[in-house]
Amino acid sequence: MTRTLAEAAAEAAGCTRCRLAQTRTQVVFGVGNPDADLLFVGEAPGMHEDRQGEPFVGAAGQLLTRMLGEIGLQRADVYIANVLRCRPPGNRDPLPDEIEACTPWLVETISLIQPILIVTLGNFATKFVLETPRGITSMRGSVYDWHGRAVIPTFHPAAILHGGGEKSRQFQELRDDFGLISQTLARRAGNGAPPPPQAAAPAQPPPAHPGPHLAPGLAPDLGPPPADQLELF
Ligand code: URA
Repeated sequence: MTRTLAEAAAEAAGCTRCRLAQTRTQVVFGVGNPDADLLFVGEAPGMHEDRQGEPFVGAAGQLLTRMLGEIGLQRADVYIANVLRCRPPGNRDPLPDEIEACTPWLVETISLIQPILIVTLGNFATKFVLETPRGITSMRGSVYDWHGRAVIPTFHPAAILHGGGEKSRQFQELRDDFGLISQTLARRAGNGAPPPPQAAAPAQPPPAHPGPHLAPGLAPDLGPPPADQLELF
């Protein structure tokens, strides 16, 4: 029998699959609605998240919450998680073996939530989920088919804050992407089940995910990407 997301999170709380177990304050598994249609995937917890045990609670998280509000959603309506569930010390880049060790948690998260739409926040999560070398600037603004689900990549909110802020072109593009998120959700949620692959309009062929233990209908695998993918735009 499949376990619940809360049961998975309870097991993850004691995870020692990689070295980050020694330096984290706590595992930051995820937050929100376990039946959400919309799943956000960021990179890894930062200092605030590590302390509070919740993803996206710092300044970047406040911007994410604001953008959600602009499309009529609250954090409790969606699910928010990261590729890595533990903070890398000093917010350094995730290492390949950490990504590999943590991937089963993301796979199980997607498998249990079965979101209609996954939004990848920033270069790291986008390259990881869509297995693409392309940067976020060229990937954003489109809906990609991913094993019958939709993926919309957008800027990491921290990149907006470190870039030009509200006056920047990227901020307007982030806002546009949230408009696309809202439209895509409305279109797909109305249909119940995720549409067939040809309903999406990928800017490139969907990635082939070989993979370990995935539930039916999900990508069978999320192979670890190189860890050197953290440029902001
Ligand atoms: N940045 C992320 O990618 N995730 C968080 O949870 C916080 C900041």
